[in-house]
Amino acid sequence: MRRIDSPLTIFLVGATGDLARKKIWPALYDLFKQSLLPDTFNIVSVARAKYSKAEFADFLAQTVKVEKSDPAWKRFISTIEYVSGDVMDPKTFTEIEEAHAKIAPCGNHLWYLATLPSLYVSVVKNIKAEQLQTTQCGWTKLLLEKPFGVDLATSQQLNKELLQVFEEDQIYRIDHFLAKETVQNLLVFRFGNGLFEHLWNHQFVDHIQVTSAEQIGIAGRGVFYDSVGVVRDVLQNHVLQMLAMTLMEEPTSLDPAEIRKRRMEFLSQLEVVPSEQIGARVAFGQYQAGQVDGLQVVGYTGEKDIPAESVTETAVAGKLFVNSERWKGVPIYFRLGKRLQQSVTEISIKFKEPMNSMFSTFETPQKGNVLTLRIQPNEGVIVRLNVKQPGLELQTGEVSMQFCYHNQFQMDLVEAYQKLLYDAIQGDTTLFPQAEDIDASWRFIQPILDYLADAQTKPLPYAAGSWGPAAFEELIAEDGRRWLEPRPDMCVV
Ligand SMILES: NC(=O)c1ccc[n+]([C@@H]2O[C@H](COP(=O)([O-])OP(=O)(O)OC[C@H]3O[C@@H](n4cnc5c(N)ncnc54)[C@H](OP(=O)(O)O)[C@@H]3O)[C@@H](O)[C@H]2O)c1
Repeated sequence: MRRIDSPLTIFLVGATGDLARKKIWPALYDLFKQSLLPDTFNIVSVARAKYSKAEFADFLAQTVKVEKSDPAWKRFISTIEYVSGDVMDPKTFTEIEEAHAKIAPCGNHLWYLATLPSLYVSVVKNIKAEQLQTTQCGWTKLLLEKPFGVDLATSQQLNKELLQVFEEDQIYRIDHFLAKETVQNLLVFRFGNGLFEHLWNHQFVDHIQVTSAEQIGIAGRGVFYDSVGVVRDVLQNHVLQMLAMTLMEEPTSLDPAEIRKRRMEFLSQLEVVPSEQIGARVAFGQYQAGQVDGLQVVGYTGEKDIPAESVTETAVAGKLFVNSERWKGVPIYFRLGKRLQQSVTEISIKFKEPMNSMFSTFETPQKGNVLTLRIQPNEGVIVRLNVKQPGLELQTGEVSMQFCYHNQFQMDLVEAYQKLLYDAIQGDTTLFPQAEDIDASWRFIQPILDYLADAQTKPLPYAAGSWGPAAFEELIAEDGRRWLEPRPDMCVV
């Protein structure tokens, strides 16, 4: 990473929110401490809460968990202004501009919308009303958090509204999973090694599995979660983007536009599940009370802010196909959700068994090689192989070879939000989905949402701490396959 030179102001809308506290402020401070931000750098923070400048500085010190006397922190805090105002009100943008003019010379501008998605359109309209969508001395960019709409129509409408104010190449849409080290590694792993790429197709791959499971529940974000559910929250964005990175065609270069084009191609090749098949190919669950890691937890409808009659799905499993020569006929199974047995995100490629294997009659617990890309936690790559067990008799056994980031590189992985902020400022668009990608994924998801919206569709109950309702097992078992149990013992730090 190299230092960014030109003067920069970040306008952080939603500066006191959950995401800002958990991810954005720590990432900004880390970039600052590593001297990766320009000498002339300012942040204008915006939210409605009433804070004086000093109170806001205290709030930030608590958020980032730093000693206020730390010299680096003191320098960082001196770059920050706070504007208290409602972004629905155009007056707030006059105040933002005044605060900015007081502290920053002319330079580049990054608007970061880390606020409620329902406010995005008002914010960009007010940016335009105040003529803040461009600056005379550099670029202006807009960084947006997901979700981008709640379905295909609203996503398209949002894009239309954004494009009234900004050009597409000014807009950076965040899917923070794409910035995870393990997902970025996919490019190098697949195309930088001669070993796997020629096996990466329907001739050699039996099927693919994605597990994106969390042990936590809705973590106090009930109002948000109940209006969203796991299909919109995780499947439509993170899972489809990760799959696109894993399974897309080889880009001809590292040019960001080329990589994005390949991801986009993949997404547009997803076979839209015909409505009449959704019931058989996708199953939905909602967690009930149960035990997670030995602790008793309440069911979804017992959580704060969740109506007793809620039918929001907290877990989903299903099977999809890709209409491409490379992946024809290869099922991709996915299972995702909250309050599941483990917290783990991984993609596993299960290879076909050797034809007429002379070992086919041998007892091997799980046949076939599996390559697992562990996205989080304990990031790494794990390959399952069959070997001869030591001894006088010929017995086969199963072993795993692993590459683990933490053991190999003995360094902290770059946090996704640092990478995203850094790339957005540098203008590297590789990891940012564009309007077309978002539309393509909504197109695939839309029939599933329509099915869910039907009054007849009720998620199936599952015990918190399990792997979801029995229907998740049946869905894969009827194809003669089974879910690969994630191995928490692999790549343990
Ligand atoms: N939290 C996460 O883990 C997470 C993960 C991925 C993506 N996201 C996305 O990130 C965005 C923010 O999520 P969040 O969880 O941080 O939400 P949040 O906790 O509700 O924070 C919203 C922020 O916006 C401010 N705000 C709300 N209404 C406002 C208004 N009318 N005028 C000015 N400021 C206003 C809030 O401060 P005041 O109430 O003081 O105004 C607060 O700073 C959402 O798009 C979300 O989907 C969040």
